[in-house]
Amino acid sequence: MNRVDYLRISLIDRCNFQCQYCMPEGAELDYIQQQDVLTHDELITLVREVFIPCGFTRFRLTGGEPLLRRGVVDIVRSIANCPETEDLSMTTNAFLLAGMAHDLYDAGLRRINISLDSLEPETFDRMSGNRGRSRWQQVWNGIQTAHRVGFNPLKLNVVVIPGINDHEILDLAALSIEREWHVRFIEFMPIGNAGLFNHSGWVNSEDLRQQIRQRWGLTEGQVRGNGPADVFQIPGARGTLGFISQMSECFCDRCNRMRLSADGWLRPCLLNETGQIDFRTALRSGISPSTLQAQVQQLLTFKSEINFKQRESGTTGIYGRTMSQIGG
Ligand code: GTP
Ligand code: 5AD
Ligand code: SF4
Repeated sequence: MNRVDYLRISLIDRCNFQCQYCMPEGAELDYIQQQDVLTHDELITLVREVFIPCGFTRFRLTGGEPLLRRGVVDIVRSIANCPETEDLSMTTNAFLLAGMAHDLYDAGLRRINISLDSLEPETFDRMSGNRGRSRWQQVWNGIQTAHRVGFNPLKLNVVVIPGINDHEILDLAALSIEREWHVRFIEFMPIGNAGLFNHSGWVNSEDLRQQIRQRWGLTEGQVRGNGPADVFQIPGARGTLGFISQMSECFCDRCNRMRLSADGWLRPCLLNETGQIDFRTALRSGISPSTLQAQVQQLLTFKSEINFKQRESGTTGIYGRTMSQIGG
């Protein structure tokens, strides 16, 4: 069992996109009430007085869309300023990034992962559920700004859907050649509401690697990160290619993370909420940090014993939270 020292913190469950693999049409989302969202101070108390003492040193801010969270720059600054923080990163759809990248960098954020499912504005809009003016260009501007500001590593996440964006694999992979951009191909996971998404399966990472190998060749690569990606590189490229293959190859035995939802639930696993802890109620009823630390330790022990073959049993159907609610 790996050391669990990486916390994914969802700052908000709302999103300005409606990616079809995440929130398909017809999905009924039960949004968190504003008063139930952890405040800046509650969140920072948890990080400083509970998670850091329990050994967590790496933090990722997620959503929904984290840039929609009011005060996100202050949250970044507070976590970055903790001397124990070894790594602080964010996963965003980048729609609001162009206007915020400088402030986020100044506040101490140094690396960022951005969803970019397509280089074709039409396909992009179709996948991200946009019916109005195309949003691709603004996302692209966000990526360029993040690059100029100096975020490094800068990773681009592509969820590959057969028949929708899988014809773009080589074009997307080519983004890693000239610039130090790290493109990651993610096998689509049918979780939460994703069952409502009308798709035809998922694309195996090995098939993608095969295509890329035939075009350019492929060697092993390296990039800083805490996640489940297997990293490769086109020979001579400045960036790398990552493959996140949760469908074709279970990586649960390498798991190093837990997840905190915007309303303060700590869950042991993306796919299993057994034993999850309600920190919001605990904090608001004055329970001491040392008691909360003991609860985290207990959940860490449970996580190390969990039978991952049954991991999906804890999150299904109407009771399950979607990727946007859990933070991906
Ligand atoms: P790095 O630290 O940069 O390696 O980030 P990361 O890969 O952990 O973060 P990111 O938010 O970019 O996640 C990329 C993809 O990995 C998303 O599609 C996630 O849903 C998926 N992923 C992340 N953690 C888990 C996990 O615990 N289980 C599964 N099955 N998928 C995960
Ligand atoms: N399967 C795989 N990845 C998903 N993401 C969202 N929903 C799914 C899904 N069903 C990805 C997003 C984002 C990250 C946080 O999770 O594309 O990059
Ligand atoms: Fe929003 Fe991310 Fe879900 Fe897309 S995948 S709808 S950007 S939370």
